[in-house]
Amino acid sequence: MVVAGEYQSKTIISKQLYERARRYLPGGVTYAVKYWEPYPVYARRAKGSRVWDVDGNEYVDFWMGHFAIIMGHAYGPVLEAAREQIELGAHLGYCHEWEIEHARIISEMSPCVELFRATNSGTEANMYAVRLARAYTKRSKIGKFEGNWHGGYDALHKAVNPPLDKPPSLGLTENTLSDTIALPYNDIDGVRKIAKKEQLACIVIEPIMGAGGFIPAEREFLKGLRELCDEEGILLIFDEVITGFRLARGGAQEYYGVIPDLAVFGKTIGGGVFPAGGFGGRAEIMELLDHTKGRKPYENVFHGGTYAGNPLSTRAGYVVLSELKKGEVYPKIDGLGEKARSGLREIFARYGITAHVTGVGSVFGIHFTQEKPRDVRTATQTRDVERCKRFFRHLISNGILFLKPDKPVFSVSAAHSSEDIEKLLSLVEDFARKEAKQ
Ligand SMILES: Cc1ncc(COP(=O)(O)O)c(C=O)c1O
Repeated sequence: MVVAGEYQSKTIISKQLYERARRYLPGGVTYAVKYWEPYPVYARRAKGSRVWDVDGNEYVDFWMGHFAIIMGHAYGPVLEAAREQIELGAHLGYCHEWEIEHARIISEMSPCVELFRATNSGTEANMYAVRLARAYTKRSKIGKFEGNWHGGYDALHKAVNPPLDKPPSLGLTENTLSDTIALPYNDIDGVRKIAKKEQLACIVIEPIMGAGGFIPAEREFLKGLRELCDEEGILLIFDEVITGFRLARGGAQEYYGVIPDLAVFGKTIGGGVFPAGGFGGRAEIMELLDHTKGRKPYENVFHGGTYAGNPLSTRAGYVVLSELKKGEVYPKIDGLGEKARSGLREIFARYGITAHVTGVGSVFGIHFTQEKPRDVRTATQTRDVERCKRFFRHLISNGILFLKPDKPVFSVSAAHSSEDIEKLLSLVEDFARKEAKQ
C-alpha cells in the first residue's frame, strides 16, 4: 500500500526518523503492529483523546496505547502519582505497600480473583497462568482459540492468523506446538469434541477477540465452555488483558456472568502507561505459588521477576482502577462506543457498503466482509483487504489514528467526546461516498 502524497508531505520528519530507525531496529520498529507502509508516524506527545506527531500534526487517537488507556492520555492523577513515586523510588526492589493495594483492588473488582500476582506484561502473565494450570491439573496439553492473541509466549503463539495450520513464527519447537490444541471460537460442539479427546490442563480464551477484530464470544458459548471445563476438570482461563476493567468493573466475567478459574490481566493495570500484567484466581489454585507452606521449593510453582509488581506500575494501576471502581466512567465510554457502532452501521447501510461493525462497550471493529464475523475464519475469508487499506489511508490522512491497516479496530477512552465520534463518522461518510461511486 502506498499512502497518498498528501500523507508524505505532512510527515517529513517521521520519514526521516523511519530512515534512521531502519539502521538500528529490524524493520525499523520495536513491534511490527506499529508499522504501516511506507512508514509510520512518530508520535511526540499525547493528551486526552489526542496525539501529536513529530511534524506537528494532530490526530484523534482510537488506538489508545494498544487499548491500554481507559482514562485518556496524560491522565492527571496518574501523572501526579507517578511523579511522586519516581521521587520516592520507581524501583525499590523490596516489598512495598502499592503491590498490596494493587492486588487488593483487583481482587475486589474482578469476580474470580481471590489471590493475585503481578507481572511485567500480558504475555508474561499468560505464561505463568498456563504454568500454574499445568501444575494444578498435572496435565501438559492446553487449549487456545483460533484467532485469539495472548502475546508472544511460545505455548500460546499458535493459530493466531490464517494460515492457521502454520506456526505464526519461526523458532517454535514441535513439542510446544503439539502440546497446544487450537479450538474453534464460538463453536461449543467443536470444542467439546476436542476436549473429550485431549487431556487439557486449561482452556485460555479472549472473551472478546481483540486484535482479531473485537469479535465477542456469544454468551451461550461462554456458558457452555464453563460447563464443559467443569465436566472435564479443565481450568478455564479468561485473558482479560483488554476486557479487564474496561467492559465493566469486573471485566468480561461480570459482563457475561461467567466466572473463570483464573484470569490474566495487563494494559490497564499499569495505569495504561507503565508496563504491567498479572494473573489471579481461586485461592486453591494460586496457593501453589505460596512458598511459605512448608513444601520443598520444587513442589511450588515459580513466579517472580526484577520489576514484577514495581511501585510505579502498581501505583499508577491503583490510581486508574480506583477511578474505574466508582463505575461512573462506563456509561460514558460505552455510550460513545454505541454511538460509533450505530453511526457506522447506518452510514454503511445508506451507501450500500458491505461491512459489519462488531464490538461491545468501548471497543469496536469494522469488517469489510461478506458475512458477519463470529470467528477468525469468517473475519478473514472474505475480507476486502484493499478496501481496508483505502479506509486506513483516508482516516490517517485526515487526522484520525488507529490500527491496523488491514483490520480496523478502535477503542474509546473517558477523554473522548461526542465530537471525536462525530469526526470519525463524518470521515467514514466521506469514505463511503467515494467507495459507493467506484
Ligand atoms: C488479549 C491480549 N492478551 C495478551 C496480550 C499481550 O500483552 P503484552 O503486549 O502486554 O505482553 C495482548 C496484547 O495486545 C492482548 O491483547
